[in-house]
Amino acid sequence: MRKKLIAGNWKMHKTVNEAQILARQLADRLSDVNFADIAIFPSFVDLYPVNVIIREKESNIHLGAQNMHPESNGAYTGEISADMLISAGATMVILGHSERRHIFLETDSFINRKVKTALSTGLVPILCIGELLEERKSGKTEQVLEKQINGSLKDVKINTADKLIIAYEPVWAIGTGENATPEQAQQAHKFVRELLAKHWGEDIAQNLRILYGGSVKPNNAQSLLSQPDVDGALVGGASLDADSFEKIIRSGY
Ligand code: 13P
Repeated sequence: MRKKLIAGNWKMHKTVNEAQILARQLADRLSDVNFADIAIFPSFVDLYPVNVIIREKESNIHLGAQNMHPESNGAYTGEISADMLISAGATMVILGHSERRHIFLETDSFINRKVKTALSTGLVPILCIGELLEERKSGKTEQVLEKQINGSLKDVKINTADKLIIAYEPVWAIGTGENATPEQAQQAHKFVRELLAKHWGEDIAQNLRILYGGSVKPNNAQSLLSQPDVDGALVGGASLDADSFEKIIRSGY
């Protein structure tokens, strides 16, 4: 049985003070939640201050970062390493988010290097994949997902399903208010799970979590999260407010 994971990607929002306030609210409100895993992904500068709150409150919330560089150190101005993230309290890292792919032109092979680095340091990568609207309209969704999965996971070895998480985030659904229908999400997730079985075998694929992301809100969370292959949500906008994030977590899937 795959335990659901509800993850909040705060993107480029929240100052240190604002991030600490939100982290405190979430830790207080969600301390009883054991039916799902919860994770939050603040900006780099907010990681450590948020980690202080989480530890103070002995919270069940996991902490992760939104990106990282594949090298362990060196002359990469403006970048951040896996060890730095770990030292700030992160145990997970989002890799290959569509905003990284499309705005910052990250390629599958660059993302592949990051996935390998994350795994070798013990960070759990949340690998994001997803098609553009034109690609969906021209019937290329599966082809795009297959290319992203095969490219980003090339020669990646895992021995258990808890080492890595996938997030299916159709680009046309991100920040648009237009979520994928539960049927569209289920179809894509099932396809991705079949691809993962080719990489690592049926057993790992059946236990690996595939999250859905793209305009997840309190009013659509239940219908998306109750799909058999949807193992959680990667929430953007609605994770910035304690009330709406809590409603999604408690939406009864
Ligand atoms: P929204 O929930 O704001 O559409 O963002 C989704 C996302 O990109 C999460 O990583």
